[in-house]
Amino acid sequence: MGKRIHNFNAGPAALPLPVLEEIRDEFLDYEGSGMSVIELSHRSKWFDDIINEAVERTKRLLKLGEDFHVLFVQGGASLQFCMIPMNLAVQGKPVDYINTGTWSTKAIKEAEIQGKDVHVIASSEDKDFSYIPKDFKVDKDAAYLHFTSNNTIKGTQWAAFPQAGDVPLISDMSSDIMSRSFDASPFGLIYAGAQKNIGPSGTALVIVRRDMLDRVPDGLPTMLRYTTYAEKNSMFNTPSCFVIYTINLVLKWVEKTIGGLNKMEQLNKEKAGLLYDFIDKSDFYRGTAAKDSRSLMNVTFRLPSEELEAKFVAQALEAGMGGLKGHRSVGGCRASIYNATGMDGIKALVDFMTEFEKKEG
Ligand SMILES: Cc1ncc(COP(=O)(O)O)c(C=O)c1O
Repeated sequence: MGKRIHNFNAGPAALPLPVLEEIRDEFLDYEGSGMSVIELSHRSKWFDDIINEAVERTKRLLKLGEDFHVLFVQGGASLQFCMIPMNLAVQGKPVDYINTGTWSTKAIKEAEIQGKDVHVIASSEDKDFSYIPKDFKVDKDAAYLHFTSNNTIKGTQWAAFPQAGDVPLISDMSSDIMSRSFDASPFGLIYAGAQKNIGPSGTALVIVRRDMLDRVPDGLPTMLRYTTYAEKNSMFNTPSCFVIYTINLVLKWVEKTIGGLNKMEQLNKEKAGLLYDFIDKSDFYRGTAAKDSRSLMNVTFRLPSEELEAKFVAQALEAGMGGLKGHRSVGGCRASIYNATGMDGIKALVDFMTEFEKKEG
């Protein structure tokens, strides 16, 4: 096997090594079937067990009651931007959105394209999306309030979720799902593209409260209705079997090896804490997100010049650390430190940053 690097990619991103090894070891013969998991029928007992386990693990980890469905929907998080207003907006009511960056902006656009009564009740665009808004008023009669729990590009995160009273919360948790524990009861729907914390790309994990399904209007195409996925255990058509299989293994790792979401959260806080403390003590590196809005998943920072940033990214790669370039829309540097990134990766990065500063600072 070639040497594995410390992978700081934003997504697709690092997955736990024991999970990759498990996939490798059983890839040619899944549980004595004589077939690979990507050759099994999705109507087989083997796959039924896989998808049911993935659903049950999601429910256990997030402490979801029986009033939630767990679905797997192809098309990534981006298809959810469109399915949410399509299925869950209510005639005559506004849909509220909070805009904290590129992904929220895209979600808003999809609701607007459909002619929904979109109210953007707060935005941090005035300061280049570097903070999480605190002052906003949710419309009492809104059909839902949509927000992005972690802003992958700008490195900001909601530490505590917005309070919306009886208005159901809807959140894009693509880049922090399963990284911390939270109370799911105020949520009407939670969705996450799998490719950061839980698996390969191409599929969204969608958690929807049963009562929300009463809103799904007649006349929507079959594959765009949440009810289709809920009624058919996400298997109206051939699901993304390999993605769901991997998600199940990653969730098993979170549950059994890590010990659940409280432990995961504690580890993530320690990891991000080490990196932010280092950045704060340095005059060479500068964090870009407001301190009270910092993400535990995506640590964004700048160096004194763009030339130094390019050099930093290139030399880091030579030293075995990949994916440190900021998103193409914003530049700078970003270390994505999802669940699968261990403390060893953070320590290696801090050591490299220390050396680089000594040389170039
Ligand atoms: C917060 C967030 N939402 C949505 C997306 C888009 O996900 P997808 O590519 O699965 O559509 C991403 C990144 O890929 C993201 O970071």
